[in-house]
Amino acid sequence: MKNVVVLVASPSPKSVNRKLANTLEKLSEGKLKFDYPDLFALPYYDDHLWANPPAVITDLKRRVEAADAALIVTPEYNRSFPGVLKNALDWASRPYAQSSWMDKPTALVGATPGATGTAAGQGHLRSVLPVYGMLVMGQPEVYFNMKPGLITDELEITDETTFAFLNGWVQKFSAFIERHGVDKAEAIAAE
Ligand SMILES: Cc1cc2nc3c(=O)[nH]c(=O)nc-3n(C[C@H](O)[C@H](O)[C@H](O)COP(=O)(O)O)c2cc1C
Repeated sequence: MKNVVVLVASPSPKSVNRKLANTLEKLSEGKLKFDYPDLFALPYYDDHLWANPPAVITDLKRRVEAADAALIVTPEYNRSFPGVLKNALDWASRPYAQSSWMDKPTALVGATPGATGTAAGQGHLRSVLPVYGMLVMGQPEVYFNMKPGLITDELEITDETTFAFLNGWVQKFSAFIERHGVDKAEAIAAE
């Protein structure tokens, strides 16, 4: 079982992105274990806070470092990605030269209620993720149009093609983690 730290960049209880994240979690049962830190509990990035960092910050870094992989599940805001996500990425990238993201196998997905599926927002995100040291999975891309009824409140996917696509994505992400991840036990033994 691999641990995945999951960044859901929406505050909404009815979030289509949280629903997508929870659906992927359900499809990953027995393979991947999802951990969801609350990005909305983080203060705005402030270098001065490192003198006595709040527990939410050290907790975020600890959870990222404990994870075998990261998954970003993001809405699109004005053709980019939400500030709360940038803030979380920045916090865990510091202190300088102590980025918790370094070499972390990472995938990104996103959902909108409309047709665009966060393609523009993810484009912006893809251009910065390597700067954090993340190893980003290129394919398959997930630009998800969350049509009403496509996924029920019980997280059942009602369309066969969509089920096959998301299920295939889970297999690919799991394989990507196996290929690029550092086995924690081996890494600790080697130290
Ligand atoms: C500030 C803001 C900007 C938005 N900009 C876009 C956009 O550029 N493209 C888009 O498809 N949807 C845009 N939307 C609509 C979101 O896709 C929609 O609110 C979606 O439900 C957000 O995801 P969530 O349900 O997971 O919170 C925007 C919404 C907000 C609040």
